[in-house]
Amino acid sequence: MLGTDIVNLLQEKMSSPIHNEDLEVIVAPHEKLDITLEDEVSKFISSHAPDIILNCAAFTNVDKCETEREMAFKVNASGPKYIASAAKECGARVIHISTDFVFDGSNDSPYNEDNRTNPLSEYGRTKLEGERNIQDYCNSFLIVRTSWLFGHHGVNFVEKMLELAGHKKELSIVTDETGSPTYTADLAEALWVLIKKGCEGIFHVANEGSCSRYEWAKYIFETLSYNIKVNPIKSSQYKRPAKVPLNSTLNCQKLTTITGTQMRPWQEALSAYLNKQ
Ligand SMILES: NC(=O)c1ccc[n+]([C@@H]2O[C@H](COP(=O)([O-])OP(=O)(O)OC[C@H]3O[C@@H](n4cnc5c(N)ncnc54)[C@H](OP(=O)(O)O)[C@@H]3O)[C@@H](O)[C@H]2O)c1
Repeated sequence: MLGTDIVNLLQEKMSSPIHNEDLEVIVAPHEKLDITLEDEVSKFISSHAPDIILNCAAFTNVDKCETEREMAFKVNASGPKYIASAAKECGARVIHISTDFVFDGSNDSPYNEDNRTNPLSEYGRTKLEGERNIQDYCNSFLIVRTSWLFGHHGVNFVEKMLELAGHKKELSIVTDETGSPTYTADLAEALWVLIKKGCEGIFHVANEGSCSRYEWAKYIFETLSYNIKVNPIKSSQYKRPAKVPLNSTLNCQKLTTITGTQMRPWQEALSAYLNKQ
């Protein structure tokens, strides 16, 4: 989902007469490179010797990570280690994407980059290990934590709501899980700014504002004038394999202070996404 949007954005920057960026983009989808295979990663990276490596690959099915622990660890923790080591060899900078699920959700306010991590799920734990490997194994890195992604090229909450709306008149959605829905097209733009400015370290990037899953679903149906009844429920009433943080809203002040970039409110981003469907 994010990978496709960032590749599209980079290709736009290269072809647009305004930007006319002197870039070469080498795309490595799963079928071309499996990041869990150390030798393959090393060979691929050394043969291209890139200046920058952007890792959008991950095992993102949070519930499946609970039962497929070994694979989740390989993709989310070992893969980034192999990428970081190969990047160090050829002097490349690594841009790595991480998640709000590295936090336990007990904060009353939005999480900033220095807050204590304490993941509740296998997904969060393996992603945190991935962050540590990036920090430990390469010389130059940028880790971007983001949250609640929606975009045109993958499975996401908005698409699930639209699919359910196709055959249900009533839905029950949780009210006590809060986060910042983030449009992958906006995240791709912010990544571009961070890359261009040579930013390093950890940054939080999400659309402005926050909501519960219940408010998010209501907003989707209201925007599209769908006549669906949305019932509020507590997360304790919605059984799922993974434990998720109740408040994983990210504080993105560092992004604004350092780059001048202000992410637009999630409602605006969602409207833009729905209009582009
Ligand atoms: N989605 C969210 O709500 C969310 C929230 C916070 C952070 N993030 C982070 O944001 C990043 C992008 O997420 P996304 O939602 O765009 O992910 P996505 O749509 O699930 O895409 C992940 C990609 O990684 C690939 N992949 C999986 N295993 C691989 C392997 N062993 N080698 C190479 N590629 C592999 C997948 O290929 P296959 O489809 O072939 O497996 C897929 O193309 C991830 O780091 C994720 O952890 C996501």
